[in-house]
Amino acid sequence: MMLRSRTERKTIKIITVFGTRPEAIKMAPLVKELQKYPQEIETRVAVTAQHRQMLDQVLDLFRITPDYDLNIMKERQTLFDITTQALTGLGQIFAAEDPDLVLVHGDTTTTFAGSLAAFYHQIPVGHVEAGLRTYNKYSPYPEEMNRRLTGAVSELHFAPTPTSRENLLREGVKPEQILVTGNTVIDALLATVRPDYVFNGPLKEIVSSPTGRRLLLVTTHRRENWGEPLREVYLALRDLLDTFSDIEIVFPVHKNPRVREGVERVLGGVERVHLVEPLDYEPFAHLMHRSTLVLTDSGGLQEEAPALGKPVLVLRDTTERPEAVTAGTVKLVGTGREDVYQTARELLADPQVYEAMARAANPYGDGQAAQRIVLAIRRYFGFTTEPWHEFGAS
Ligand code: UD1
Ligand code: UDP
Repeated sequence: MMLRSRTERKTIKIITVFGTRPEAIKMAPLVKELQKYPQEIETRVAVTAQHRQMLDQVLDLFRITPDYDLNIMKERQTLFDITTQALTGLGQIFAAEDPDLVLVHGDTTTTFAGSLAAFYHQIPVGHVEAGLRTYNKYSPYPEEMNRRLTGAVSELHFAPTPTSRENLLREGVKPEQILVTGNTVIDALLATVRPDYVFNGPLKEIVSSPTGRRLLLVTTHRRENWGEPLREVYLALRDLLDTFSDIEIVFPVHKNPRVREGVERVLGGVERVHLVEPLDYEPFAHLMHRSTLVLTDSGGLQEEAPALGKPVLVLRDTTERPEAVTAGTVKLVGTGREDVYQTARELLADPQVYEAMARAANPYGDGQAAQRIVLAIRRYFGFTTEPWHEFGAS
């Protein structure tokens, strides 16, 4: 691909695209870092708002005002709704702005539509959090194909770990197009968690309850888990509450009505279960810090909780994040009622088993991923010859 306008313009223009909560959390450090180089980079932010409230929570926290907001979210939207609206809307923005690079993140449908729109305009794509794979098309669905299709049209692949680089190399991506940067989620986490944080509102009561109960933090949302798999998980949580009188569950429930209905049916009104609205990132990160155990089908939590030394049980059959499993702080348990119950029971009953898992591990980043990504971009466009040090290199 020709670098189209480096010769014509003194600065380059980069449009950063995202649409959901996790993309916003992980792109926020990068937007901030890009903004540090106004003499070289004109930074634009375009959000699809595939998520509305959950996206706005993050934009407010990191004080990011998008230049473009497509506001596409609809109640119970389909993959077709998101893809077509994001593709058309982003296509128009790219045509008007004529950027030198489009940055997308991860594996949502916004990611895929953004990269496709850039490709249709022959604009280079930088894929942040590139190279995660399960090699199972339907798990996670549709994320595995979103990230592979995005990878196929990307020019620069910002792989968070050496494992993700290996995946890309195996698929034939050229080594010089892959930069191992660490995951920007650790940048966001380290910028957010602080020792003097004080909880407010209902959370304050829960975390400072004089009963001294242990907190289990639960989140669920994966499409392939909707219905029976999640029902099994929620029943396992009830079994755990029956076995351990000293645990409480805090469950910030994803806004997706498909998820909320199932949660409410099995866990609504159950004693020692706090079903709360999605939390702002700041209280959520500190809640993770205060929890004994995390049970989740989230991608991001598998990266954050190990950094905080919290064991994670992953409520899925596959994971594209094997590093923390290898480090011993994450276990892949699936969604079977008995599997979830027995694994959590052992951890809660046996301090040795617990301690073996509750070790801080940071295989995903060191807080400098955004800096590395921006340095790589500045080198790519010829603004600097500053040396490059990849994440994990000693
Ligand atoms: C999406 C992503 C998934 C990502 C997840 C993070 C796709 C197809 N899915 O899944 O990869 O892991 O976000 O959370 O890209 N809703 C609201 N308010 C919000 C957000 C969602 O009301 O702020 C409701 C709406 O009814 C919406 C529904 O949730 O239609 C589903 O949202 P959608 O983005 O399609 O799927 P997620 O399950 O959130
Ligand atoms: N998160 C949050 N508030 C919540 C639940 C999660 O801020 O109530 C954050 C969490 O710390 C992580 C991200 O949202 O950074 C994960 O989002 P999600 O699980 O929705 O998506 P995934 O990571 O699975 O794509």
